[in-house]
Amino acid sequence: MNVATIYIDEVARQGDAKQNLLHVCLSLGYDLPYFCWHPVLGSVGACRQCAVKQYRNEQDKAGKIVMACMTPALDGTRISIADAEAAGFRAAVIQGLMQNHPHDCPVCDEGGECHLQDMTVMTGHRTRAYSFAKRTFRNQYLGPLVNHEMNRCIQCQRCVRFYREYAGGTDLNAFHLRDTIYFGRHEDGVLENEFSGNLVEICPTGVFTDATLKHHYARKWDLQMAPSICVHCGVGCNTTAGERYGTLRRIVNRYNHEVNGYFLCDRGRFGYEFVESDQRIRHPLVEGRTATTSEALERFAAMLREGKVLGIGSPRASLESNFALRTLVGADRFFAGVSDRELRLLSAMLRILQEGPARSPSLDEVEHSDAVLVLGEDVANVAPIMALRLRQSVRQAPMQIAERLHIPAWLDHSVREVVQDAKGPLYIATPYATKLDDIAADTYRAAPDDIARLGFAVAHAIDPGAPQVMGMSPELDKMAAAIAASLLNSHHPLVVAGTSCGSQSVLEAAAQVAWALCKVGHPAALSLLAPECNSVGLAMMEPHSLSEADNAAKRDPTSCLIVLENDLFCRGPEKEIRSLLANARHLVSLDHLRNQTTEAAELVLPAGTFAESTGTLVNNEGRAQRFFQVFDPNSEVLASWRWLGEGSQAAGFTTKLGCTLDDLTKAMAEEMAAFASLPQVAPAQDAIGKIAREPNRYSGRTAMLANISVHEPKPPDDPDSALAFSMESGPDVPPPSLNPFFWSPGWNSIQATNKFQTEVGGPLRGGDPGIRLIEASLQSDRKYFSNISAAFQAHAGEWLVVPIFHIFGSEELSRWAPGIAQLAPSPYVALNPEEASRSGVSAGQLIKVTIGGTLFDLQVLLRVDLPCGVAGLPAGVLPRGITTLPAFCSLVPSLTESCRGAA
Ligand code: SF4
Ligand code: SF4
Ligand code: FES
Repeated sequence: MNVATIYIDEVARQGDAKQNLLHVCLSLGYDLPYFCWHPVLGSVGACRQCAVKQYRNEQDKAGKIVMACMTPALDGTRISIADAEAAGFRAAVIQGLMQNHPHDCPVCDEGGECHLQDMTVMTGHRTRAYSFAKRTFRNQYLGPLVNHEMNRCIQCQRCVRFYREYAGGTDLNAFHLRDTIYFGRHEDGVLENEFSGNLVEICPTGVFTDATLKHHYARKWDLQMAPSICVHCGVGCNTTAGERYGTLRRIVNRYNHEVNGYFLCDRGRFGYEFVESDQRIRHPLVEGRTATTSEALERFAAMLREGKVLGIGSPRASLESNFALRTLVGADRFFAGVSDRELRLLSAMLRILQEGPARSPSLDEVEHSDAVLVLGEDVANVAPIMALRLRQSVRQAPMQIAERLHIPAWLDHSVREVVQDAKGPLYIATPYATKLDDIAADTYRAAPDDIARLGFAVAHAIDPGAPQVMGMSPELDKMAAAIAASLLNSHHPLVVAGTSCGSQSVLEAAAQVAWALCKVGHPAALSLLAPECNSVGLAMMEPHSLSEADNAAKRDPTSCLIVLENDLFCRGPEKEIRSLLANARHLVSLDHLRNQTTEAAELVLPAGTFAESTGTLVNNEGRAQRFFQVFDPNSEVLASWRWLGEGSQAAGFTTKLGCTLDDLTKAMAEEMAAFASLPQVAPAQDAIGKIAREPNRYSGRTAMLANISVHEPKPPDDPDSALAFSMESGPDVPPPSLNPFFWSPGWNSIQATNKFQTEVGGPLRGGDPGIRLIEASLQSDRKYFSNISAAFQAHAGEWLVVPIFHIFGSEELSRWAPGIAQLAPSPYVALNPEEASRSGVSAGQLIKVTIGGTLFDLQVLLRVDLPCGVAGLPAGVLPRGITTLPAFCSLVPSLTESCRGAA
C-alpha cells in the first residue's frame, strides 16, 4: 500500500494513495453515502451522492464540493464529510433520487436490506417535497430467476456496468428516451448471462430482486442464517443461506476475497430450491415404508452386525461423512462413488498438484493472471465463477496503458476509454465453443487428444527440454509458439484444465506447460477444475475404484453395502451397477433426494443437505471450507456422518466416530496426514462464545409456534459449531468462517460487507475462510510427461463422445430447483453440420443413438464449432439410462440401419 495521510474533518488518517477518497473513507469506517461506486466496478461519478468538501490547505476555510469517488486520495488531502454544505448537497441529491421513487418499501422485496433505504436514512432525508405524478415504467419478464420493477430505479448505472462490462452480458442495457432512462432488455425474455442473479445485490434498490425468494418470501431480519458453501460445482463459493419456518428461503453471496469475492453464478444462487423439492427424503424408509429413527437405526445396526460391510463414498458428501463411512467399513472396503475414469483423473490431478512445482491459485490470483491458457475446459459452464474471474484477467495487461498515462485503475470510464478493446492474452482450446471465446486472443476447436498435443507443443516451445510433439501442422506449431511467447512475456501466467473432457492427456499437458514455465524460471499457476463440490476431498481419502467394489462384492458376497449421498446409476453403466447391488444382501442408501439407488435400497436414511447439516468440502484449489447447519429440520433428517456414527454405536462397534463434528475432524486429522490442519478450518464449538444465527430484529419468535404451544420452546442445541439457533450472541464480530451474515448499524444491505474487510474490496478482517490442504512441491524435480497422445482420427460411422456442459441441467442437485429446471436443455446429440449432412441427418430430427450398447432416441442439434468425428451430448441431461459417457457412440439415422458397436 502506498500510504497517504488524509485529513478527514481535521483528523489525520492513513489511507491508500492509489485509491479514491470514497474508498479510503469507507475503509476507515466512515459512513459516507454512495450508489454508483462499487469496489470492483470503480468510479463513474454518476449518482453525485458521495459529495464531500475538499480544502486546498489548512488555511482554506471555504473549500469546494467534490465527489469523493472521483477524487484521488493524495497525500495531504483535506476533506470534510460533516461540513454542512456537503451534507446539504447529499441530502438534496437523495431528495432528487427519491422524487420518482414509488416509496413502496412495505411491498418491496428489497425492504429491510436496501442500500437506498440505508442511504436515505444516513443523509437524513425524511420529508417528501414533490407532490406531482411520478414517472412510471412497464416492467419486463426476465425469466424465472430475476424479477424486474423499474419504477424503483435511481439511474446509478451499476446494473448495466456489472452485466455488460464486468460479466460480458449483452442483453441488458440502458435505453434512453426523452427525459427517462430504462434499464432492461430490448424485449421481455430470460436474462442470458449466467451471472444475472448478481443484479439482485448490485442494484442498490429493488429493481432486480430474487424471483425464487418471492415464492416463499421472508424479510432478511426474519431469516435464520448460517455461513455456507455452494455445493453446485467444484469451486466452493461462499454463501449465506437463510431459513424461516423450517424451510430454506434463499442463498446470497458471502464475501470471500480469495474465492468468490462479491459474486455467485446463477446455478449457485438459485439451485438451493432442491432442498425443498418434492423428491426430498424426510423420513427413514425400510423396504419402501416410512419408519421411525429408532426402527431405522435398529435395522441398520442389525445389517452392520451381520457381516462384511462395503462403503461407497461421494464427491458431493462432506469430508466428515466420507470419513465416517471409511472409518465404519475400514479403508480396504471404502470405494469411490465416481466412475473409474473419473477417479483416475482425480487421482492424476491430485498427484500433479502435490508433486509438481506449479501452485494451484486462489480465484483472486486467477483474476490477477495476465496470460492464460485454457485446455479442454468449458469454464463458464463447469466452474462459472472462475469464468467471471478470467473475464477480468484479460484486463490486467492492458491496464498498463492506463498506468503509463497516470490514470488510476479505479477511474473506470477513463480506463476503458484509453484501453478500448485491448485485451490480455487468453487462449482457449476446447472441443466446442465457450462463452469466454469473445475475449480470447485465439481459440482452437479439437478432440481432447489434439488439445493435449497442443499443450505438449506449448510446453516444448517454452522449454526445449520438454518432449517434442511430432506430426504437428505448421499452423498449430505457430499457435503453440505464440501461446508460449505470451506466457513467457507475462508476469503471472496461468494454465487452466480439468477433468471435464475426460482426458488424462489434457491434464498432463496442462501440467507440462506450467512445469515448463517453472523450469525456465517463470513460475506459473496451475488451476485444475474438479467436477463436484468435494471431488478433491474424496480423492484425498484414497478410495478404491468402483469396479473394485464390484469385484470385492463378487469375490466375497457382502452382507451390507452402504451408499453415501450418491446415485450410483449416474456413475456407471446400469448393468454393472445392478450387478454390484445384486451382490450385497442389504443395500443402505443415505441421500437427500429420491433416485434409482434409493429406490433399490432396503434401508434409506434421510441425509441432511448443506442446509441441515455441518461439514467440510475441499474445492479445486485444495481449500477446505466449512458449511454450517442453517436450521434444525425438526424431523428425522440427520447429517450422514451422524447417521453413520449412531448406526455404528447401535451396532456396538468401537470406532473413533465420536458424537460431534469436532470429534470427527480431530479423529480425521490424527488418522490422515493430508487432513492434519482440518480442525483449524473453523473454531471448535467451545472455543468462543455462541454466535447467533438470527439477527437481533428477528421477529415472531414467541408466536411462530403458538399454534402448537404458547410456551416458547428452548431453541435446539447445536453441538457441532459455535453457532446458536437463537438471537443471543457471543462475540460482537464473529470470526469470518463463522459469520452468519454481514450487518452493521445503519448498513442493512449486502454493502455492510465493507465493515468486515481490512480495506473495502480486500481480505476479510481475521482472514478469509478456508485452509489450503494442498501445496505444490517447490523443490520438485518431477520429470516431464513423455507419453504424448497420438492425433485423433475420426472413423466413418463412429463418433467420439464429448460432454457438453450447461450451467442449468448439468449438475445433479440444482436440476431439482424449479427455476433451474425451466432453463435446462432437453436431451440432444450435437453434430457438426457437415458430418450430419454426410450421415443424412438434419437439425431437429429424432435419431437413434447407440451409447454403451443401448439405443436411444435423441434430437439432432447442429453445432459448427464441433470438430468432425466428435458428437456432443449434454452432460447430466441425458435420457434416463445413459449415465456416464462412454468413449464412443454411434449414430443410427433410422432403426432399420445397422449400428456399429460402441466402445
Ligand atoms: S436498475 Fe438498479 S442498478 Fe440499475 S440503474 Fe437502476 S437503481 Fe441502478
Ligand atoms: S461457481 Fe460453482 S460454487 Fe460458485 S456459485 Fe456457481 S455453482 Fe456455486
Ligand atoms: S458514488 Fe460517487 S458519484 Fe456515485
